[in-house]
Amino acid sequence: MDSKLIKKTDVLVIGCGIAGASAALEAAKCGLRVVVITKHSEPQESNTYYAQGGIVSLGPNDHPELLKNDIIQTGDGINNPEAVDILAEEGKSLVDSILIKELNIQFSRSSPEALDYAQEAGHTRRRILHIKDTTGQTIEERFIQTLQSYSNVTFLTGHTAVDLLTVPHHSKNPVSFYREPQCIGAYVLDNHAQKVKTIFAPCTILATGGCGAVFLYTSNPKGAIGDGYAMAYRAGARLVNMEYIQFHPTSLFHRDADGFLISETVRGEGARLKTREGRTFMDNYKMKEMAPRDEVTRAIYEEMTNSNSNYVYLDLASCAKVDIKKRFPNIYKTCREYGIDITKEPIPVVPAAHYCCGGIMVDVWGESSLKGLYSVGEVSCTGLHGANRLASTSLLEGLVWGVRTAKRIASRFDPKTSHKPSDIHEWYYPKKEEEIDPALINQDWLSIKSTMWNYAGIIRTTKRLERARADLDYLRHRIEKFYREATMEPKVVGLKHGIQVAQLITYAALGNPVSRGAHFIKN
Ligand code: SIN
Repeated sequence: MDSKLIKKTDVLVIGCGIAGASAALEAAKCGLRVVVITKHSEPQESNTYYAQGGIVSLGPNDHPELLKNDIIQTGDGINNPEAVDILAEEGKSLVDSILIKELNIQFSRSSPEALDYAQEAGHTRRRILHIKDTTGQTIEERFIQTLQSYSNVTFLTGHTAVDLLTVPHHSKNPVSFYREPQCIGAYVLDNHAQKVKTIFAPCTILATGGCGAVFLYTSNPKGAIGDGYAMAYRAGARLVNMEYIQFHPTSLFHRDADGFLISETVRGEGARLKTREGRTFMDNYKMKEMAPRDEVTRAIYEEMTNSNSNYVYLDLASCAKVDIKKRFPNIYKTCREYGIDITKEPIPVVPAAHYCCGGIMVDVWGESSLKGLYSVGEVSCTGLHGANRLASTSLLEGLVWGVRTAKRIASRFDPKTSHKPSDIHEWYYPKKEEEIDPALINQDWLSIKSTMWNYAGIIRTTKRLERARADLDYLRHRIEKFYREATMEPKVVGLKHGIQVAQLITYAALGNPVSRGAHFIKN
């Protein structure tokens, strides 16, 4: 094996949104050597960076029991009670100790003495801490700056995880088949050099975020194609609840806006949903505009279908309880760029794929069913969200499980490993690599995304899902062949991951005939 292509570390963290970053930080504080990889050239590029709404804490007149109730109500009762307890009991103190004290994050204030708490759908209290409407950006930047000050943390940007390294699967030693399967690191593509490195680590943490970008319309950044789900699945880890894909009710409807999110905190500050004729339509719901996301999304979908329209309106201009430009500077600025003045006119909005409530099944310490593999944040499934996630709980889940998982790893860390690099297969490159035709990749992605949106989207039926399964199975066969013959490039790796994630969602949806939370199936 070429020694330049081998790296050893104690902990390998794949992805560095809030979940990966907090795991890396805690592991570094415990004295472990940490390698953080991200496929992006900028380390802060992640779903976290784009989070507008905020992070759940506990507001005035609030209590962990009230938060637990809201999480379970929104999750349609199938949440993991242990995970709900942990988040509600431990979350606020980690926000205080890590975000506010250690990272010195200045959350918005309603007065010099008091923090400002926002409200979002499904919450019975105002309890969401925010930094105007760019919460995730500030949190992410502070995490990255802090991590870069640790000498035992190495960042590998522009490195795409290709496959988890598992024994016995990648072992040259036939006797290893008699051992318990174990993850011992990952094969990682250096995007620039187009070479696959082998990173050995007794503990690997997958923190690759979600998979909204396998749908045609999404609030997620382009890179959110679910790499972690696909790699964990191939490595044999258990995945659950993949059918529960949450759609955000309000992304900006504009040809060039790329799913720009209009935060639910906008409705929390008074905005109302209206048809294009100006009729409100959430009045019959118990929590009106503040109903859980799945209900609001379906109400919008129904209004759009009945009126044969591509969007509805979100009217903040005539209902706002706040100074719009001060409270939502980023939304104001972005909408202005698209010719919409949100202080004067309603915002055209449409639902978009937003969050995967399922994922790699982990216990309350972030440990998956595969030895040596941990997972945190959206790609994991602690069971916290049940069938539907309560707004603004995802950043907190990332923080809580990032810290817990790293603590667990540090408390049981054993640097001894029985696996030597020489026992492991080097990455296989095809003898004659095929040039990549971008038109093929673009068309394959278009097929995946439109199949998912039309057949496995907001309203599903068995017929639509069966059609999706057939189309995706065929496409998978084509993509696998292409993958085996093509030059190793991030685009090719992404396509292989993306098709597999689309299949995971579709198969899970077909296997669950019960409509619940974010999985709505009509037959
Ligand atoms: C939003 O601001 O509406 C999104 C927050 C979330 O998805 O948790």
